[in-house]
Amino acid sequence: MIPQSFIHDLLNRVDIVDAIDRHVPLKKAGANFVACCPFHSEKTPSFTVSQSKQFYHCFGCGAHGNAIGFLIEYSGLSFVEAVKDLAAYAGMQLPAPEQQTGTFSGQATTDSFSYDQNNNSDVSPQALLDALQTATRYYREQLKVSDKAIAYLKKRGLSGQIAARFGIGYAPSGWQNLEAVFADYKSEKTRKILMQAGLIISGDETKQYDRFRDRIMFPILDQKGRIIGFGGRVLGTEEPKYLNSPETVLFEKGRELYNFFSARRAIRAANYVIVVEGYMDVIALAQHGIDNTVAALGTATTSFHIQKLLRQTDNIIFCFDGDKAGRKAAWRALENSLSLLADGKYLSFLFLPEGADPDSYINQFGKESFEQQLKHTLPLSEFLFKELRSEANLETSEGRAKLISEAKPLLQQVTAPALSLILTRRLAELSGIGQGELNELLQIKRTSEIHKTEKNPRRQSITLYRRLIRILLYDPSHLTKLDRRLLVEWSEKNEEVAALKTLVDFLDAYPHLIENESAFSIAACLQDNQYRALLENIETETLEWSNPVDLELEFLDTLKKLQQMQHQKRMAELHSKPLNLLTDEEKRELRRLALR
Ligand code: UTP
Ligand code: MN
Repeated sequence: MIPQSFIHDLLNRVDIVDAIDRHVPLKKAGANFVACCPFHSEKTPSFTVSQSKQFYHCFGCGAHGNAIGFLIEYSGLSFVEAVKDLAAYAGMQLPAPEQQTGTFSGQATTDSFSYDQNNNSDVSPQALLDALQTATRYYREQLKVSDKAIAYLKKRGLSGQIAARFGIGYAPSGWQNLEAVFADYKSEKTRKILMQAGLIISGDETKQYDRFRDRIMFPILDQKGRIIGFGGRVLGTEEPKYLNSPETVLFEKGRELYNFFSARRAIRAANYVIVVEGYMDVIALAQHGIDNTVAALGTATTSFHIQKLLRQTDNIIFCFDGDKAGRKAAWRALENSLSLLADGKYLSFLFLPEGADPDSYINQFGKESFEQQLKHTLPLSEFLFKELRSEANLETSEGRAKLISEAKPLLQQVTAPALSLILTRRLAELSGIGQGELNELLQIKRTSEIHKTEKNPRRQSITLYRRLIRILLYDPSHLTKLDRRLLVEWSEKNEEVAALKTLVDFLDAYPHLIENESAFSIAACLQDNQYRALLENIETETLEWSNPVDLELEFLDTLKKLQQMQHQKRMAELHSKPLNLLTDEEKRELRRLALR
């Protein structure tokens, strides 16, 4: 457990400008610092670092966070590692493990404070990495001396060179092979490490056994090139076909992509990435000279995966099997992409003939044929409508209504302005509804509209809630002057109100944020909270506040207007009731309100 208070002290101690400058040289530009963004390729700098608020923001790709977030994204560290790295840099001692300090509103986020819960606090990530490294070496040696494993790989068309490049190995059969591999296997500590690393499984107190037996081993690397887990394939037809390392401190399946580390250069060079389903697909394509390929690790393609890829390239081709499972996987990928789409990004799908996967296809038909296929992919928008149409009979009104209702939640996620317009127009055509009426039905918010408020912050275009959020993010100490009764009355169900409540709850939970005059990004502290992105966006608006207007005045003015708005709403509500139905209490309230 790393206590929140330590993290905040750390963020107060470290200057994000130094922390980033170590990796990405920054240039002063006005009140902020800028550089070409390390997370996407660009020629003019849109990566901005605010020294006064200690966060970074890229106006190009939207990357955003504090010093810890930067290390996680840039160096591929886990949350805990990033904290350790920064602490070492700042010369701060990590506190001794402490009992549950609680994470914000009980959300144990996977990358923050929840790691050490399974009493593994004495096993360091480095110890796990070392163990995985040793195991890899062992498995690779075993491959060299196993005729049947070599024969298997040959049969699948792999050369020794490719096997070496992917670090492929073989875990021999037998239950206790690792005992001889790790010198102090018998020690409590080593067994703990091996268990945590997912290499051995404990039956009972005295008995442990190897997880991987008689399997071809595929090491999985993180984005720093460190081995964080394995996929192990049977040589025959036993089940399960693939056994993967369990999730560990180092290995989170929804975040990692097989071959991402090695493919990065090829992805940038080709300016597109192919996402396939399996380890063997990646390797077979590499065997045929196609290196810009990654695979999810036995999970659906997550939005985290897609975000990661979109930082490398604007073009993603999902290449899935032509069968039902493949279409389903593709649909999941589509769902997880929608909110990340931006005009200029191009996502498309390649469905291979039924029964074929990229591995079998390229082995049967060769590289040229596969590349030919890549030229005829189905753009995301086409796939979207194709699937939706297949579910609804457009000959009938009911079918068209169904189409709209199924499309609605999907199209609502698309904020890319041009694409969103085009998709809506397409839906209008298909459903036979006018574009205007459809817009009404869908209530889509496009980024151009969001940007407008961001870029020219004309007063009237910013809601009062948003104004309040900005102020609290910029200087949380104003919270003490916020009348909590207001909060209760905010019944509006919109995102900004919800985000504001989230922010207030968060600040309430961590009052030292207010006391310390802390100079760091509050939004970035929210971890996986659903309003984090919105709060980050709003926080970004304060980048222009190098010479803040009279914040106090702004705050009081905003509160006053909010109060007025609230009163008017309440009055309207009371007025809408027939007078004789009002209770005495309500009558008094009405009188009170009218007098203000
Ligand atoms: P596939 O069965 O399509 O994998 O599963 P593949 O790479 O084509 O397998 P072979 O070797 O050519 O037969 C796709 C991916 O799903 C995960 C693995 O990550 C696999 O690469 N998977 C599949 C599992 O995790 N466990 C399984 O039992 C099967
Ligand atoms: Mn296959």
